[in-house]
Amino acid sequence: MNKPLRVGIAGLGTVGRGVVKILQQNGALIAARAGRSIEITGISARSRGTDRGVDMSGYRWYDNPVDMALADDVDVIVELIGGSDGVAKALAETALAHGKSLVTANKALIAHHGMALAAVAEEKGLTIRLDAAVAGGIPIIKAISDGLAANRCESVFGILNGTCNYILTQMERSGRAFGDVLDEAQRLGYAEADPSFDVDGIDTAHKLSILAAVSFGTALDFDSIAIEGIRKISPVDIRYAEELGYRIKLLGIARMTADGLDQRVQPCMVKKSNPLAAVNDVFNAVVVHGDFVEKTVYEGRGAGEGPTASAVVADLVDVARGNRTPVFSVPVAALTKAPAAARDALRASFYLHLRVVDEPGVIASITEILSTEQISIDSLLQRGSEEASGASEGGIDVILTTHETEEGAVRKAVLKIMGLTSLVEQPTVLRMVKN
Ligand SMILES: NC(=O)c1ccc[n+]([C@@H]2O[C@H](COP(=O)([O-])OP(=O)(O)OC[C@H]3O[C@@H](n4cnc5c(N)ncnc54)[C@H](OP(=O)(O)O)[C@@H]3O)[C@@H](O)[C@H]2O)c1
Repeated sequence: MNKPLRVGIAGLGTVGRGVVKILQQNGALIAARAGRSIEITGISARSRGTDRGVDMSGYRWYDNPVDMALADDVDVIVELIGGSDGVAKALAETALAHGKSLVTANKALIAHHGMALAAVAEEKGLTIRLDAAVAGGIPIIKAISDGLAANRCESVFGILNGTCNYILTQMERSGRAFGDVLDEAQRLGYAEADPSFDVDGIDTAHKLSILAAVSFGTALDFDSIAIEGIRKISPVDIRYAEELGYRIKLLGIARMTADGLDQRVQPCMVKKSNPLAAVNDVFNAVVVHGDFVEKTVYEGRGAGEGPTASAVVADLVDVARGNRTPVFSVPVAALTKAPAAARDALRASFYLHLRVVDEPGVIASITEILSTEQISIDSLLQRGSEEASGASEGGIDVILTTHETEEGAVRKAVLKIMGLTSLVEQPTVLRMVKN
């Protein structure tokens, strides 16, 4: 058999521990598939004394992971520390500079520095594998860059954050408010102590930027993503969505349009017949449209020890096999710079939830504003105060869905509606995704 691939693992938390377990447990199987054995030679984390539930006594310990990137008996660095800068970035740069390929699950690092790192890797004939960084156990990067390589991608979108999907699923099942469910998710370990990266959509945006680059062959463009999280989603909106035949999901959506690349992270109303509507709890799913293959759907566990470590080890097998697929499907120099599509130009149907004072003429004023903006109403529900959420005393709920229209028109109409004295609360506006 060929020489073993010698691996240094930096970060022995949830994912790192999982990688060690898989390599120990399935070592022979993995060696047969990779054509050579994959051996851990070095490990590093913050605290050496932590019991990680797995025997690591045979591996050399490094207090500083960057030193491991200089070691002669390490061929590839597995970076599982996290964070877009700091030690993770220093480690990645040092590894590549010293002729070691890189495997990482760190979407923040890649979203912000992926192009520069990939350029160094290419220059040195090395590789960076990052399948674990997007949708955990779902091999979506490989599916797009290898399996769908024949296609021009038209859109890629999906549920990319398990924490948000868990919270929205629990809100739907229990009728509880966002804050309550978030507290529970934190107790169960599904949400971080500081949940903002997840619930404010940043984590989804990191992953979306990577998916878009791989799908469209465009330069990473995290800064152009319009990002909205799930904090404002209320149990009432979830109930109304149910009544209309929809579920609310946080989606990352990237589309190549005639005007440029449209990238957004936003809570959307997803029609129940859409496969994404049935993706619950911590699961992730991604839908990719290619010009010849048409629609393809991928679903699986988007996070956690086993699924994420499974993707990391698959990436190590790629490295062991000498697979040099470019990090973003095409070499860095061939990535194009797509302009960001104008946000207002999006055509979609929208859901509007307006809490207004129950007085004569209020519905007429709303419909008049919509009509002035050429927005055609698909359905209109009105709910009295007892049926409404009770979140604020008084007022009735007016729930409107529109036919397909320009987002810019909806934005203008909502601004005008917000000027009405009869409005009691900030309106909720959600894009509707049908198929
Ligand atoms: N958890 C998931 O389900 C998941 C899914 C997809 C992607 N990811 C990504 O995978 C990466 C790791 O996530 P995780 O959940 O495994 O994180 P984690 O459980 O917090 O583990 C982080 C590890 O990094 C070590 N570490 C932190 N600072 C360090 C430093 N300065 N020097 C050396 N080691 C340091 C920690 O050491 P100690 O243990 O000694 O504190 C710990 O072992 C992140 O980029 C994350 O975004 C995670």
